[in-house]
Amino acid sequence: MQNFQSKDPMQPGFWNERFETRFTPWDKGGVPQALQDFVARAEHPLVTLIPGCGIGYEAAFLAQSGWDVTAIDFSPAAVASAKAAIGEWGKHVVEADFFQYHPARPLGLIYERAFLCALPPAMRLQIVQRWAALLAAGGVLAGFFYLDDTAGRSLKGPPFSISSAELQALMTPYFELLEDHGVDDSIPVFVGKERWQVWRRLPAA
Ligand SMILES: C[S@@+](CC[C@H](N)C(=O)[O-])C[C@H]1O[C@@H](n2cnc3c(N)ncnc32)[C@H](O)[C@@H]1O
Repeated sequence: MQNFQSKDPMQPGFWNERFETRFTPWDKGGVPQALQDFVARAEHPLVTLIPGCGIGYEAAFLAQSGWDVTAIDFSPAAVASAKAAIGEWGKHVVEADFFQYHPARPLGLIYERAFLCALPPAMRLQIVQRWAALLAAGGVLAGFFYLDDTAGRSLKGPPFSISSAELQALMTPYFELLEDHGVDDSIPVFVGKERWQVWRRLPAA
């Protein structure tokens, strides 16, 4: 069992320690099938932001697919690991804090994987509101959500699971749900509790 100094996932140091020691149990090591299917179905490439990208396999995949993608992470060790892992596509990975970052171009897509569940539940409203602020009406948030509707679900994390009802309540002031289905290529940490969802930004009320 690893004994880490940093216990606060709100701090870059928490993630630095884990990337530096290669303790990254959330890392899929590749591009999830549902994202590949989404890209294959898309009518045209979308300007895409990946918050909290980690190694950023998806950034490499989207860039290779001709999409305009920027992947951000506030952990210098994560960014260094990404740049080492994805070679020439590493130029799409930028060290930045999601809550401060301003995209250079209007976004069509925000891609979510293991970012919402990485931060403490108290941050959820801020994350959803930041997603909403970054997308104009019609813009899309798509990705993977770590859901758990069982009564005895663990409140310890990361990863922090969220109930379907809480996610719905947080999202519906800003987004409408377009797609929602199970995932059959989850890594062990998320297996059985991961869903692919696509949410469309509503016009501001
Ligand atoms: C559990 S990891 C997931 C990484 C990646 N999305 C994946 O699927 O493998 C969470 C990542 O979010 C990053 N992160 C946490 N808070 C952040 C913030 N405020 N701004 C940018 N990145 C952040 C961490 O550094 C870490 O790399």
